[in-house]
Amino acid sequence: MQDKSVTNREGFTSNIGVIAATLGSAVGLGNIWKFPYVTGENGGAAFILVYLICVTLVGLPVMIAELMIGRRTKRNAVEAFEQLAPRKPWFLVGVAGVISAFLIMAFYTCVAGWVYAYIFKAATGSISSTQTKVTSAIFSSLSKSVAQPLFWQLLVLLVTGAIIMTGVTKGIERVTKILMPILFLLLLVVDIRSLTLPGANKGLNYLFNPDFHKITVTVILAALGLAFFKLSIGMGAMITYGSYVSDDQNLPATALTVMLSDTLVSIMAGVAIFPAVFAFGIKPDAGPSLLFITIPAIFSAMPFGNVFMVLFFILVSIAATGAMLSLLEVPVAFMREKLNWSRAKSTVATVVGIALVGSTATLSNSILANVLVFGKNLFDFYDFVTSNILLPLGGIFIALFVGWFWGYQNVKQEFSNHGELSNDGIHKIYMFLVRIVAPIAIIIVMLAGLNII
Ligand code: TRP
Repeated sequence: MQDKSVTNREGFTSNIGVIAATLGSAVGLGNIWKFPYVTGENGGAAFILVYLICVTLVGLPVMIAELMIGRRTKRNAVEAFEQLAPRKPWFLVGVAGVISAFLIMAFYTCVAGWVYAYIFKAATGSISSTQTKVTSAIFSSLSKSVAQPLFWQLLVLLVTGAIIMTGVTKGIERVTKILMPILFLLLLVVDIRSLTLPGANKGLNYLFNPDFHKITVTVILAALGLAFFKLSIGMGAMITYGSYVSDDQNLPATALTVMLSDTLVSIMAGVAIFPAVFAFGIKPDAGPSLLFITIPAIFSAMPFGNVFMVLFFILVSIAATGAMLSLLEVPVAFMREKLNWSRAKSTVATVVGIALVGSTATLSNSILANVLVFGKNLFDFYDFVTSNILLPLGGIFIALFVGWFWGYQNVKQEFSNHGELSNDGIHKIYMFLVRIVAPIAIIIVMLAGLNII
């Protein structure tokens, strides 16, 4: 029974395909929307430095761990643990991952909806203004209304659901291979425009000249959470994607490539936004609306700005969609394989569930604004709980699982593809990171950042 479904499983077909799909999951609103605004809220360059340490010492090892678990078992996030550790509670890590997928998608689809809406607003010229008072009022009127953002959120879910329904691997591979390079080039154009605005160097200074007094435990927790969010780790998305990777792929090299490229895209988004923030006199800590205030202003200050702006929001929506595919695929793969549902049924169930939770995130900017959990509205709460609690917690258990339970021999085999590749010595460093450094770092940062110690 199990063997049959394993051989019938789809998979990514080439090295480039694996990288494109994994990068497609990593690159998304996290880079273009979240990275700049979280950097702005946490003081700029010093935050970025902490972030870089987090992705290297914690993010990369956990990402490799997830890919290895997935590829070895060729199963979804829950059953992968069941297979490697039968009748042990490790599968709960996968269950938490399925729940996280719904919570992340709740606010992710809301933001993606704003991005979709901005394609059309840019096309009609209704958001062009170099006055950030104007662009921020336009954004508020979208996010604070009721029907409009719900409509766009639903559209996002229908589009993403439709792609997932047709089967994930071939579609993802093809789309991401073409679109990632275009997104990259367009970001370069925005970077150049932003850098040539008067007063741009203030933004660069903010981004690259660290003020170490700004580093607090809350800042470190935010950086760690962002690292998890950015690399799509801590909830089984990379286990699920790993399960579509063939046995001859070099997993550590793939993860490293993805991590470096993803970081580059984030930095490029920062270079697009912050020079403009200072040139237009916006507060860097404007929060989740930052992208939607700055980008229209930047484009409005350049020739053919509207055309570029439409293109920009199209590409961001595609990047967001690529990332959402990996989020949707976690519950979908689980329902298909565990409950034996068809891909269509699993997708519909997931989409309906996300639409229900997601509408509460969207409406928390309007009619549900007074519903507060731990002092946060629902949108911020879903975001905080996933990035700062569930993903890091998942990361601890995944690292401990691979480092201590699965152990040295298995890691060695997966690193060298059973002796095919020479990854001599790297797996020893890796073992140290995944056994000791990553779990301890996450525990300390979480306990301190959440004010528990
Ligand atoms: N990494 C994506 C981004 O930056 C978001 C994402 C996709 C994600 N899949 C995930 C985050 C899984 C956490 C877990 O936009």
